[in-house]
Amino acid sequence: MKKNLSNIKKATKYLNNNECIGIPTETVYGLAANAYSDKATLNIFKLKKRPKKNPLIVHYYNLNDLKKDCFLDVNFIKLYKKFCPGPISFVLKLKRNSCISNNVTNNKNNIAVRFPKHRLTRKLLKILKYPLAAPSANLYKKISAVSKSDIIDEFGKKIKFVLDGGQSKVGVESTIVSLVGKPKILRLGGIERNKIEKFLSKDKKKYKKKKIVVPGQGKLHYSPGIPIRLNIKHPKKNEAYMLINKRTISKKNFYYLSKKNNLKEAAKNLYKTLRIIKKRKFKSIAVEKIPEIGLGETINDRLIRASK
Ligand code: TXA
Ligand code: MG
Repeated sequence: MKKNLSNIKKATKYLNNNECIGIPTETVYGLAANAYSDKATLNIFKLKKRPKKNPLIVHYYNLNDLKKDCFLDVNFIKLYKKFCPGPISFVLKLKRNSCISNNVTNNKNNIAVRFPKHRLTRKLLKILKYPLAAPSANLYKKISAVSKSDIIDEFGKKIKFVLDGGQSKVGVESTIVSLVGKPKILRLGGIERNKIEKFLSKDKKKYKKKKIVVPGQGKLHYSPGIPIRLNIKHPKKNEAYMLINKRTISKKNFYYLSKKNNLKEAAKNLYKTLRIIKKRKFKSIAVEKIPEIGLGETINDRLIRASK
């Protein structure tokens, strides 16, 4: 406990100094900096090697803090009450007089916001006098980090401090819902699509289902740097094989995301397993068919992008 407290103090010092640090969230780790500071937010783009046109998600402690920066609409309040803090982000209209750095929004008048659930990060957000801009803590287009050691893997000594909060429980990024204009899901994520749709069902006519796009989600993303083949029953001999169901005979190249077809567990283990496989120098990865339901939809989305 004491150690956590002193680490939160350390984190505060770095952040007040306009530096980026790693923070734990329930989805994936974030590369965080003061969202009100041009200098601090610029450091995020540099460190991540991310194009500046790709906007950042801002992390708040609660509604009260958010009110200064954004307009709140009815759908937002409904979803907030149901799912926050938790693995969901919202695109909202930015207030003109907000202090959010233009680097965060790419000079647009919309902003993505979220209320992370991790205990340590909530403590940190409560203390700070500003919200935290935080993209996933990985190099641009690479696999997201779900632990402190993943971040060190990605950035080495370039990152000065990581607040260690153990392994991320959800393991995939937040679901992003745009509430500017017709509500629509922009990115699949840690909360299943149907749970959110159910919630917006009263506005069914207004709800737009089709395309899922966010500006930053290019085709190649979450890439382990080797080919991935999906829906595979029989892997090649020298191929890493990711599975979600236990086989009677297991082989050395088998990597279980789950042994019981548990999609929540599989999501949690996805990025971690991709990272392990990459380190073992396999030339390619085969993946057992993952059902296109619930979090399976999110896992498939990430695997398809990673395989491009
Ligand atoms: O779970 C998460 O959301 C994690 C943790 C750290 O909170 N963060 C995360 O950030 O995944 P990032 O930057 O890796 O992905 C955010 C996505 C990007 O594709 C970005 O283009 C999109 O959100 N985005 C950010 N601001 C937006 C906006 N105003 N409108 C539409 N999309 C936006
Ligand atoms: Mg990312």
